[in-house]
Amino acid sequence: MAQVQHPSRAGIRRRTPQIGAIALASAPLLVLVVRAATGRLSANPIEDVTHVTGEWTLRLLILTLAITPLRRWLGWGWLAPLRRTLGLAAFGWACLHLLTWVALDQFFDWRAMLEDVLERRFITVGMAAFLCLVPLAITSTRAWMKRLGPRWIRLHKLAYVAALFGVLHYVWLAKADLLAPLVYAAILGLLLGSRLARLPRPGPAAVAGQLHPPPPSPADVSETS
Ligand code: HEM
Repeated sequence: MAQVQHPSRAGIRRRTPQIGAIALASAPLLVLVVRAATGRLSANPIEDVTHVTGEWTLRLLILTLAITPLRRWLGWGWLAPLRRTLGLAAFGWACLHLLTWVALDQFFDWRAMLEDVLERRFITVGMAAFLCLVPLAITSTRAWMKRLGPRWIRLHKLAYVAALFGVLHYVWLAKADLLAPLVYAAILGLLLGSRLARLPRPGPAAVAGQLHPPPPSPADVSETS
């Protein structure tokens, strides 16, 4: 008779933070769907959806970048796997945000979209942010991590570029009320500062390491990216 496998308590406990992260990242979607289904969106529902999807893309992106410094400062090793979960959730929200624009704002009018991307700087930089996230999502698996070796770590620094473009997108679109985008910019500045403060000073050993870097282990990856 086939045995039913019950997940062990330790396994469940290990996955609790990840389950929590998935719940945190998907709860706003549930709220949005319930608001839409019960007619509790504003007079401009497309704006509401754009607002929620854009905000959550940026929040999750910045939260993803905060995991490594938080893990170091607090000594909480269990935070490490959350980076991938939150990063993928940010990408999911970015896809919803882009889809809202493509389907509800532009009605799949590809010519109008191209014009928008070329002519409105906040759309150009938003698209650039999205394009930075695509290779990160594709290469987020262990198999890609192994295949790319040390290049994986370098590639995944693109997450900072995506966040920078995302903040710039927000600053440029927020015509008058700059408070929220500037708060994101300040947090991102702190995260980038903490990242740069840990860069090794270039000496002979560091240069030799750059020339012949060892392949990363998953532990290295969570330490450096
Ligand atoms: C990582 C990528 C992106 C991030 C982090 C992001 C973030 C945001 C944020 C925070 C807002 C403001 C929401 C609000 O409070 O009203 C926003 C609005 C918006 N985003 Fe994005 N966005 C991204 C990519 C894109 C892309 C690819 C497009 C379309 C090509 C786009 C189009 C828009 C539009 C049309 C608005 C509303 C502008 C307005 O209120 O006039 N975004 N986005």
